[in-house]
Amino acid sequence: MKENDFIPKALDNSIEKGSFTWSSPSNIALVKYWGKKENQIPANPSISFTLDACKTTTTISLSKNIADTPFSFDIFLDGVQKDDFKPKIETFFKRIERYLPFLKTYHFSIETSNTFPHSSGIASSASGMSALSLCLMSVEKALNPGITDAYFNQKASFLARLGSGSACRSIEGDLIVWGAHKKITGSSDLFGIKYPFEVHSNFSNYRDTILLVDKGEKQVSSTVGHNLMHGHPFAQQRFNQAHDNMDDLISIFKSGDLNAFIKIIESEALTLHAMMMSSMPYFILMKPNTLQIINEIWNFRTETGLHIGFTLDAGANVHVLYPEYEADQIDTFIKEKLAQYCQNNHFITDKIGFGAKAL
Ligand code: PMV
Repeated sequence: MKENDFIPKALDNSIEKGSFTWSSPSNIALVKYWGKKENQIPANPSISFTLDACKTTTTISLSKNIADTPFSFDIFLDGVQKDDFKPKIETFFKRIERYLPFLKTYHFSIETSNTFPHSSGIASSASGMSALSLCLMSVEKALNPGITDAYFNQKASFLARLGSGSACRSIEGDLIVWGAHKKITGSSDLFGIKYPFEVHSNFSNYRDTILLVDKGEKQVSSTVGHNLMHGHPFAQQRFNQAHDNMDDLISIFKSGDLNAFIKIIESEALTLHAMMMSSMPYFILMKPNTLQIINEIWNFRTETGLHIGFTLDAGANVHVLYPEYEADQIDTFIKEKLAQYCQNNHFITDKIGFGAKAL
């Protein structure tokens, strides 16, 4: 599929009003997307686990637009009107209008809520933008019932990418690739696809416990961070490394080699933060407790031989990743040892999930 294939040729039906609800999960990257070109094209391919419990539910209700503004919408978070979210949605609508020519025809009431607390340091942009894109695709389907499920999902991912890059990996599950990679058939810079190769049962129901080290707003937005990869002295080596790590993961997913898996994901997390620390201007998003947790995880792994590993997002929180069959011991360790490094001892238990659902 190319960009122009997502422009609908004709809309068969017309509707006056309607309401559509989707619940869409967050995702956690194993190989990180950091650095982008124009139009939200990633500088390197990435792969993620779709999550299960951390999700956003969004309902859009539409009626004919009688306002004299081109885009007419209201947005509510947990029932409270959020005018401060409007500029982001307006920018998103401008970017996707070409692909959804009905956008100006309707007034949209957008009601959204997250399963995770707003101030948890967990970014809601992936689950939020994917849920909104799916709702908009439901409008397109109402107008054009002939579209296939495959097109629906691919275009939802394509639109979500234009809202927030990593959101394109939140439509389906359980392992999603975004960005063209020479060995991954069908991979594209335009949308996420399901990982097409064999995955060992060691990865079934893989756990992700998110340790909330810092619940504050991000000090540096990911947009600023991505842009700092332009002219970054190590950018090209980093992009090459991401391609190589994707390559290595193909055989690791097949063999179920968890020690090799942990090496890749931890290296990816630390490289992401190393890119931030070596950009100009430089910045540090990890907190002292992030490092405490990492050291505790390393000590526990050495002592027990259990397959506990971590990854990081663009923030201080730590995602602890481990196989289901070791979950009892590792959950106890998290409760007894790691929870003390979290704000108010707060952590969220999650696992690999299978994608968004229409409600
Ligand atoms: O989707 P964005 O623009 O918020 O960027 C996300 C970047 C990381 O979360 C750090 C990595 C990733 O691949 O999700």
